[in-house]
Amino acid sequence: MSVIGLLQERVRAAIVPLDVVASAVPRGRELLEIGCGEGLFLARLATKFERLTGVDFDERKLDRARQRFVDRPEVALHVADAFAYLAQRADASVCTVALVDTLSSFEPRDQLRLLDEALRVLAPDGRLVLKVIDGAAPLKTALSTVLSTLIYRVFRLSRSARQRFTYLPADELASWLRRRVVAVELRALHRERFHPVPHVLIIARKGQGERDG
Ligand SMILES: C[S@@+](CC[C@H](N)C(=O)[O-])C[C@H]1O[C@@H](n2cnc3c(N)ncnc32)[C@H](O)[C@@H]1O
Repeated sequence: MSVIGLLQERVRAAIVPLDVVASAVPRGRELLEIGCGEGLFLARLATKFERLTGVDFDERKLDRARQRFVDRPEVALHVADAFAYLAQRADASVCTVALVDTLSSFEPRDQLRLLDEALRVLAPDGRLVLKVIDGAAPLKTALSTVLSTLIYRVFRLSRSARQRFTYLPADELASWLRRRVVAVELRALHRERFHPVPHVLIIARKGQGERDG
């Protein structure tokens, strides 16, 4: 791995509360992470799931993930576009779907389309785990935009479909989910412990069709 790639990984692990997010994920059979990158988040869930599936369209990152999970047959990694991969998965076939800082790579309309697809493949007792940067915190979001611009456009360490990002307000995402699932928990992680970036964790429990309230 290049020095810059290694540095980027170290910086990401230091500024994103991946351990806190991983500890909030309930145990289960299969976790599917869309936009798994180098597998930093998947690596933190290894003991909680029988099977880990990671999908990312960036081959360089997936190669680094492969090195991380050598001799780990329970981890399956696929180079694919998120929508193309999800289209092949059957309804209600996965117990946990995670999107960790991936949603913002998509246009707002596609973000909601992606969440719809994630809910479709979730089992009735399944959980959708979302880690997002809250678009409702303008100053802090501006800092995230600067960091993303450096990573994606200046140093070209990573790629996304658009090479730019849209951070939707976390409350809006949670309200959208509340109309579709039985329970939604939102945690502003940057309020629990200081973070310069407004990290928000949203966990949605799909349920059988009945909803809170
Ligand atoms: C900020 S990184 C997060 C990586 C990982 N989730 C983590 O927490 O370390 C976002 C990832 O989403 C991937 N991604 C963006 N758009 C995608 C798409 N349309 N299909 C598949 N992966 C995508 C990028 O390649 C990148 O690895």
